[in-house]
Amino acid sequence: MSSQQPVAGLDAPERVAHRRRYLMCRPEHFTVRYSINPWMEPARPTDTAKAVAQWQELYDTYLRLGHTVELIDPVPRLPDMVYTANGGFVIDGVALGVRFRVDERRGEEQPFMEWFADHGFDVVRPTAVQEGEGDFLLVGDAILAGTGFRSSTGGHEEVAAVFGRDVISLTLVDPRFYHLDTAIAVLDPVQGVGGVDAANIAYLPAAFDEASQRVLAERFPNAIRVSDADGAVFGLNAASDGRHVFISPRATDFAEQLRARGYVPVPIDLSELLLGGGGIKCCTLELRDRPEGIR
Ligand code: ARG
Repeated sequence: MSSQQPVAGLDAPERVAHRRRYLMCRPEHFTVRYSINPWMEPARPTDTAKAVAQWQELYDTYLRLGHTVELIDPVPRLPDMVYTANGGFVIDGVALGVRFRVDERRGEEQPFMEWFADHGFDVVRPTAVQEGEGDFLLVGDAILAGTGFRSSTGGHEEVAAVFGRDVISLTLVDPRFYHLDTAIAVLDPVQGVGGVDAANIAYLPAAFDEASQRVLAERFPNAIRVSDADGAVFGLNAASDGRHVFISPRATDFAEQLRARGYVPVPIDLSELLLGGGGIKCCTLELRDRPEGIR
C-alpha cells in the first residue's frame, strides 16, 4: 500500500450497516461429483462435515451482526444447492426463478420457486437461461448482468422486463470467473438512492472483455480494483451490508483496500465450498422485500 492511500478511520467515511435478509441452504449433501466449472475436480475428495462447519460460521456471523437468514431445505442429489445465489433474483417482493444453463442443476429450479411462493413472494417463472443472483447484481437502481458462460443475453432482457430497471450487460471472459458474483462485489447495496453512482463496487478488471472494462471504468470511477491474486482466491465473491464485508481470509490486499475506505472486512473461510467453485456470495441470496415490508 502506498502512503498516499487514505488511512482507515481518518479520511475514510463512516460506513453504515443495513439489515439484510438472506436465503441460505445448509450443505448437507455437498460433494463434487461432476464438473461444471474449472474449480470442480470430482477425483478430489470433499469433506461434507467440514463444508457444513464452515457454512455454519458464515450463517452464525450474519446473525451475530443483526441480519436475518432464512433456510431452504437441502435436497439429496443436488450437491450445488448450497449456492443459493443461483436460486433466483429477488427485488421488491418479486422473485424471478432461474433457468440453469447446466443440466446438473436444473433440479434446483422448482424447489427454489416453491420456497419463494411459500414465503409470500410473487414468483415469475423464467423462460430464458439465467442463473439468478450469481449473474445479476443490484447496484443502486440498476442491475449489473453477467454473460459469457452461464446467463444468456435473453436472460438479461427478461430481467430488465420483469423488474423494469436498467440492465448493464457485462461479458465475462475467464472461465474461472464464470458468474458475475465471482468478479464483482457490491459494497453499498443501497436501493433507490442516487442511482448507480451512489453505490460502490469492487471488481477484477481481467475477468471482463475490453468493452465491459470500459463500461465499468466509466460507471464506477471510484470502484476498488482488486488484484489478480485476490481475485484468484475468490476474494470478490463477497457479501456486504454496507459496512461489514464478508470476504475470504485469503484476500488480504482486498481487505486492506476495504479498510482504507472505512469498510470492516469480516473474514470467513469457505475453502471446502470453493472445491465446488463457490464462496461466500454464492452461498447467499438476498431477499429484498416489498418497500413497505419488514425491514
Ligand atoms: N458448482 C456451482 C456451479 O458451477 C457453483 C456455483 C457458484 N455460485 C455463484 N453464485 N457463483 O454452478
